[in-house]
Amino acid sequence: MVFCMKPSLAIDFMGIKLKNPVLTASGTFGYGYELADLIPLNKLGAIVTKTITLEPKSGNLQPRIAEVSSGLLNTIGLQNIGAKAFIKEPLENLSKVGVPIIVSVAGSCVKEYVQTVEILSAQDIISAIELNLSCPNLKKKIVCHDLPLTDEVIKSVKKVSKVPVIAKLSPLVTDIAELALCVQKAGANGVTLANTYPAMAIDVKTFKYKLSTVRGGVSGACVKPMSVRCVYDAYQNIDIPIVGCGGIETGEDVLEFMLAGARVVSVGSASLVSPTRLIGIMSEMEEILNERKIKDIKEVVGMLNTIKNAC
Ligand SMILES: Cc1cc2nc3c(=O)[nH]c(=O)nc-3n(C[C@H](O)[C@H](O)[C@H](O)COP(=O)(O)O)c2cc1C
Repeated sequence: MVFCMKPSLAIDFMGIKLKNPVLTASGTFGYGYELADLIPLNKLGAIVTKTITLEPKSGNLQPRIAEVSSGLLNTIGLQNIGAKAFIKEPLENLSKVGVPIIVSVAGSCVKEYVQTVEILSAQDIISAIELNLSCPNLKKKIVCHDLPLTDEVIKSVKKVSKVPVIAKLSPLVTDIAELALCVQKAGANGVTLANTYPAMAIDVKTFKYKLSTVRGGVSGACVKPMSVRCVYDAYQNIDIPIVGCGGIETGEDVLEFMLAGARVVSVGSASLVSPTRLIGIMSEMEEILNERKIKDIKEVVGMLNTIKNAC
């Protein structure tokens, strides 16, 4: 008998019902509605907006993006219009899209994180907050490199947030599983693994740095195996759902993250290069599930952890 039923991609994420587990990643898809003419946004699992701060930010000087082998180097510097402007036109446009909206938030101190989340989580259209704890703008260091600070940010934000809170972590830590457990203990409802990897590049034709800030973060295909490892290690240690992120370009990549333990994924650089990839990924996932006779995507989450001698 030929197995031809369309597999179900629907999945519950922190109590939010998603059509499928494919999310946009923060910062690579604008505020989330600008690409409506290029792809059917209502087919996405959810939209994660670029990071919003309390006040507008102009970001770092150009050049802020450079191509590297199998990846992208960036130093955008959290350019955004600020929370008060975001809840006007961008949010109004997002409310017409018809998929859950997750807003990424950063701050330069605990108070700023709290004030921004207070403003944003009070908006009915917002389903969750993703705390960007992996930007270097708080006291000039990456928040999640400081455990007491990470704990304080999450606990303070949780007191005011009306929606679930996801902690987005830097992969550059000694023990990602331990850090993931810390954010779970602080009250995070989910965790995103991971942000970009600290990196730099030099143009040997011009003898110049490729980024204005010299150092930046690298993303894209070159980081995928490292981010899959982050997800796998964290999955062994925590119960809250994981958003897998890093180098996802195909349906096969999504399945790889989910087998390692991600409940959903977010796609960054690949959607920046080609927004239609987000839609292509979904049909590729369906094909793989059909081939393996898996009827429901939920079965895949962490599946490899239950198969002995999987390698
Ligand atoms: C141009 C660019 C801008 C980004 N801006 C943000 C941001 O504002 N907030 C954030 O949390 N992550 C930001 N990221 C990181 C991505 O969300 C993602 O975690 C990372 O790029 C790894 O995924 P990828 O390999 O699929 O791109 C940015 C990445 C890129 C390439």
